[in-house]
Order: sequence, then structure tokens, then C-alpha cells
Amino acid sequence: MDLTLHVWRQQSPDKPGRLVRYDAPGINEHMSFLEMLDVVNERLIEGGEEPIAFDHDCREGICGMCGMMINGVAHGPQAGTTACQLHMRHFRHGDSITIEPWRSRAFPVLRDLIVDRSAFDRIIQAGGYVSVNTGSAPDANEIPVPKADSEQAFDAAACIGCGACVAQCPNGAAQLFTAAKITHLGILPQGQPERWDRVVKMVAQMEAEAFGGCTNHRECEAVCPKKIPIEFIARMNRDFLKARLLKRSAA
Ligand code: SF4
Ligand code: FES
Repeated sequence: MDLTLHVWRQQSPDKPGRLVRYDAPGINEHMSFLEMLDVVNERLIEGGEEPIAFDHDCREGICGMCGMMINGVAHGPQAGTTACQLHMRHFRHGDSITIEPWRSRAFPVLRDLIVDRSAFDRIIQAGGYVSVNTGSAPDANEIPVPKADSEQAFDAAACIGCGACVAQCPNGAAQLFTAAKITHLGILPQGQPERWDRVVKMVAQMEAEAFGGCTNHRECEAVCPKKIPIEFIARMNRDFLKARLLKRSAA
């Protein structure tokens, strides 16, 4: 298939960016979206031009590194799919595709399609861990966990930290990511010792970053490649309120 791409090119964070048009003829429909970009980049390099910079690592939908706005949708048109797992058969011969970096004040553009997502790292550093010794796998299996809880924790732990939720949200809110990280630890017995402290610290760090507030647009849930539900945001809010009440009654 022959495509026309309009790709955001920006040399560095302090330089202005712009959309640049590239013709991409002869693209195989079985390629992934990133493989299509690889082909375009090889042609650019052969022509003596700078390749398009984009983040990627596993290319299996598990690391969270890839991510770009494809025709205005985070990770593109296929629901529950990362950009690296999106295949070109979801496009048509002759299509024009606009490719931009994540759009969020909290994720400044570093170069082309690469953004700085270290705000997410700082939220995790604030409390996204357990400090108890959980032992080895057999030890973990000796701690009984209700099936419903383990499944919910597993669903939350599916978050790959890609940032699509923030990029698609009209407010640039990070509630879905933060809620997923708080939930996957807060449901399990191993996460209980720091449960109340964790939610307060992680929410405080989220608010200290340049993210906006959640006003229930649900765009995050719609584009999340791991289908993290917004129910986790409600759970985070309940835990946050309870943590504040516990602190007040202890004072
Ligand atoms: S909640 Fe979904 S969209 Fe947001 S960072 Fe996690 S996996 Fe990505
Ligand atoms: S490159 Fe790892 S999720 Fe896409």
C-alpha cells in the first residue's frame, strides 16, 4: 500500500517543531506500525536525511516504551493495542496518516516523537513499592489471597506505564496510571503496611507534576492498551479519603 505520512519533527525540546510530509510507497500490510516507520527511516537515511526518532523496546506490547498519536488517537485506531502491535492492515492504500508525539504539558517533547515521561517515574518513586521482604515464589504462594483480589491486582498490574491515558485526556490527567499503580499494590496483603501512606504520597506527587485534573471524560480508559478501567480511579479516591481520615483521627 502507498501512504502519505505527516510526521511531527522537532530537533530538541527548545526548538519549534512542525509536521513534515513523507511519501511512504510499497508498505506491506503485515508490517507493524513501527516496522513501517523503520522502512521510512531506512529510506531517509539512504537519502542522507535524519531518521524519525521514536521510542520502542519490546515491540510486543509489554514494555510501554512506544507511543504516539496516530491520526489524533493515542496508539492509533485499534482498541487495546500498543503502537508496536498495531498492524498496517488497519489502514488503506492511499491513506494519509498524521503522527505526533504524546500531547501533554507533563511530557515535554525531547525529539520528534520521543517525550520525557520521567514524571511517571517520580510518581512511582513517591510510593509505588513495598518495603516488606516478600521472600521467594514459594513464600508468596503461602500467603492466601482471595481470587477476586488477585485478579483485580493482576488487572491493575497490567499497566505498562505508556502514558496514552495522559496523552488522550483533554486535561492531561494521570489518574488512570496512578490509580493502576496504587491499586495493584493496595489490594494485596504484601501492600497493606504502606497502603495509606502510599496513596497520599503518590497522589501528592501526581499533583506536583504538570498533569491536569480528572473530570471523567473517560478518554484514558478508551485508549489504554491494557484496558485499565476507571473504577480504579474511584478506588484510589476512596483510599485517599480514608487515608486522610485515618491521619486526622490519629492526630
Ligand atoms: S493506564 Fe493504560 S494508558 Fe495509562 S500508562 Fe497504564 S497502560 Fe498506558
Ligand atoms: S515497544 Fe514495548 S510496548 Fe510497544
